[in-house]
Amino acid sequence: MQIHLIAAARPNFMKIAPLYHALKREDWAEPVIVHTGQHYDLNMSDAFFTDLKLPAPHIHLGVGSGSHAEQTGKVMIAYEKIIYEKQPDLVVVVGDVNSTLACTIAAIKVNYPIQNSKLKIQNCGRPVVAHLEAGLRSFDRTMPEEINRIATDALADFLWTPSPDGDANLVKEGVDKGKIERVGNIMIDSLEMMRDTIEDENTHLEFGLNKNEFGVVTFHRPANVDNVEILSSLCTSLISISKMIPLVFPVHPRTRKNLEEYDLMPNLAECGSIILTEPLNYIRFMSLVFNCRLAITDSGGIQEETTYLGIPCLTMRPNTERPVTVTEGTNRLCSHTEIESMALDSLKIDRIQRTPPDLWDGQTAHRIVESLKHFRSRQ
Ligand code: UD1
Repeated sequence: MQIHLIAAARPNFMKIAPLYHALKREDWAEPVIVHTGQHYDLNMSDAFFTDLKLPAPHIHLGVGSGSHAEQTGKVMIAYEKIIYEKQPDLVVVVGDVNSTLACTIAAIKVNYPIQNSKLKIQNCGRPVVAHLEAGLRSFDRTMPEEINRIATDALADFLWTPSPDGDANLVKEGVDKGKIERVGNIMIDSLEMMRDTIEDENTHLEFGLNKNEFGVVTFHRPANVDNVEILSSLCTSLISISKMIPLVFPVHPRTRKNLEEYDLMPNLAECGSIILTEPLNYIRFMSLVFNCRLAITDSGGIQEETTYLGIPCLTMRPNTERPVTVTEGTNRLCSHTEIESMALDSLKIDRIQRTPPDLWDGQTAHRIVESLKHFRSRQ
């Protein structure tokens, strides 16, 4: 069974790695990594393959950056050719990036000339498409990721969800319940797979910081970094927070471009207690998260990782597609005007050890493999 695992952008690599390793151990499965090239810098892509012990991508589409339509279109055109050439049985898309939607659309509409696989959907002549991390909704259609999630879930055959809210959202949208399976949170598989290496890393010591005495900051969402007023207010807040606790800020390429364009970089660099770095690889970044007192972010994955680890997290967004991180975890949403007072508040709280959300246990890839075995046995 040829299984394409689609990887495109930084947060995808942690989602395909555990599944690749689990499938590689099965004699019936031939996992193939397809990198669309949406992220291409060494430290946004290749470093993650090394850290997560993945081989170099078997297929690289090399699409690069562009507007949403350009990027989505380029991936669709390039991947459709690959599908006809390789005729995979299953295509697994993860998360919510442009390539997730693009590969879903490309795969769902092909029509293989030769029916040579037991697994292809009956009378359909195309690969089965599975969406891993299905059902998440921020209910904010100004977010490109929300459009990608809704459209991908409307099209995919298997919807593998991380939490009960995902199942409920899909059912409300009229999805056939038979397509939905709660498998858990695959990001936690990566974290557990790499835990020993992460714990040995101690990145904070390189920056001269003590465990539990610094904050980690990441921002890259267009809503936070593309608007000069918001970005500038965010920088002012970070400078104030850094007077209470030193901050490490690995800067995403989109954020760096805007900080430079709006001339905000010098203020951050010169304030003395904000350490600005290039984006860090998985192990080094997770080592910072493991040892920090507080995370300030707009990332999806960091909301989940901090919840799992019991670390206070402030998410600079009006909403989240991961509500369990708020109801069951350590995450609090905040606006750019509230961040300073909420950070002060968070610094009063120590780590909060709670039971992680159900099925956030490092066994998600295993559950997917079992589910696929069951599916094969029914073909
Ligand atoms: C994308 C995803 C977002 C995810 C994020 C993680 C979509 C719609 N957005 O956003 O959901 O959270 O990845 O980073 O799919 N760039 C580089 N080098 C790279 C990659 C990007 O310099 O390796 C620069 C380019 O100028 C590019 C810009 O960053 O135009 C944005 O990259 P892009 O992949 O379009 O979106 P992200 O903001 O990274």
